[in-house]
Amino acid sequence: MSELKNEFDCARSLKEGRYWMPFTANRRVKEQGMARVLESASGPYYTTADGVKLFDTLSGLWCSPLGHADPRISETLKKQADTLDYAPGFQLANPVTVRLAERIANMAPAGLEHVFFANSGSEAADTALKAAIGYHRLRGEGGRFRLIGRERGYHGVGLGGMSVGGIVPNRKMFATIMVPGVDHIRHPYDHARVAFSKGQPEWGAEMAEDLERVIALHDASTIAAVMVEPVQGSTGVLVPPIGYLERLREICTKHGILLIFDEVITGFGRMGENFASQRFGVKPDMITFAKAVTNGIVPMGGVIVTDEIYNTFMTGPENAIEFAHGYTYSGHPLAAAVAHTVLDIMEEESLIARARSLEPVLEEAIHSLRDLPIVHDIRNIGLTAGVDLKPRKDAPGARCLELFEKGLKNGLLLRCTGETISFGPPFISTPEQLRDMVATVRKLITELD
Ligand SMILES: Cc1ncc(COP(=O)(O)O)c(C=O)c1O
Repeated sequence: MSELKNEFDCARSLKEGRYWMPFTANRRVKEQGMARVLESASGPYYTTADGVKLFDTLSGLWCSPLGHADPRISETLKKQADTLDYAPGFQLANPVTVRLAERIANMAPAGLEHVFFANSGSEAADTALKAAIGYHRLRGEGGRFRLIGRERGYHGVGLGGMSVGGIVPNRKMFATIMVPGVDHIRHPYDHARVAFSKGQPEWGAEMAEDLERVIALHDASTIAAVMVEPVQGSTGVLVPPIGYLERLREICTKHGILLIFDEVITGFGRMGENFASQRFGVKPDMITFAKAVTNGIVPMGGVIVTDEIYNTFMTGPENAIEFAHGYTYSGHPLAAAVAHTVLDIMEEESLIARARSLEPVLEEAIHSLRDLPIVHDIRNIGLTAGVDLKPRKDAPGARCLELFEKGLKNGLLLRCTGETISFGPPFISTPEQLRDMVATVRKLITELD
């Protein structure tokens, strides 16, 4: 007989492994039990099942800049669920989603005018890659089938995004099902030259020339698109050197290759502007987004494309589907309604400007860790920062994992991957909370051997 709801033994079930957790060392979680269970959230804090209050140093998984449990959002959810809880998106529209598409296009750089909705960053990435292939084919250049990504890039876990992505552990198990015709340029990070940079490193624009090398290897006529994150987020906040993104843009334009910015992390304010594209003054042909658009509360993602791309699809017989692509939940009205409330709150409370004003606070605090002997590098831009620890001999990643687990007992929900701690605190954080966060990190790093 199944356990009654209020008597459900979460610890037992977790231990039995019924819940196969994503991107998780499942056996380690089973061992640690309820310390790894988040039970509630409010403002910039989570509370674990063990009753420990944790500062949310990464805004969930980069997705909750407004913090948690804002009653304005729960009101919206109820109201929308009572009005139009679901609506098919194929051959039909609904007002809340139509208005959101226009609103997002208005926030994007001029010329990026049309929005295609998906439900996650992975779906957004695959949508953009398919749109790039379709665009060239419709223009009579179907020979442009190659997709170029970048080492250490992360574009989710769909087959397209995984193939274009450049994170080895995500790729090696699935080598046999990689999308064909994908190549990668080098990432522009070179520790010896840019360690401890504040904001954009001065060295590294020349790394964009690697794109010319890859283009020369394959010939531009075979290449559809280049996809990069303006700031490489998941791989530890790799900040684009001054002039680097500009050069990628020039090279793509010269060769008729589409440039896609994956703004799943950087979109909706994380760089102190609506999009990183505006922060860096470089306009791509497509922007993918997800995460912060709904504050992570209802899944939503999407792609913003230029007039040129959209209009290229709007050809052929008028009764034919122009882009044979879409999801049951594309443009979900509940997600769209929440997105409106999130964007309303960001506007009313000037939260994007606040993220920008917190940037120097985070920068100063995080770079104060530089004197710690096991700190290998510190980087920051917008309301993000990455700290690399020196690996323990013969135990790569062990130090960082230990730090993460210490954080759970000491008031911090940290994001530790490999040797890197990534920070992306909520925009609603106060300067004191950011300084306290770094002070606790300092204490915990000092305790590591
Ligand atoms: C740049 C980027 N693209 C795509 C994704 C994948 O998003 P999702 O996990 O929503 O599929 C992520 C997730 O972190 C991301 O950072």
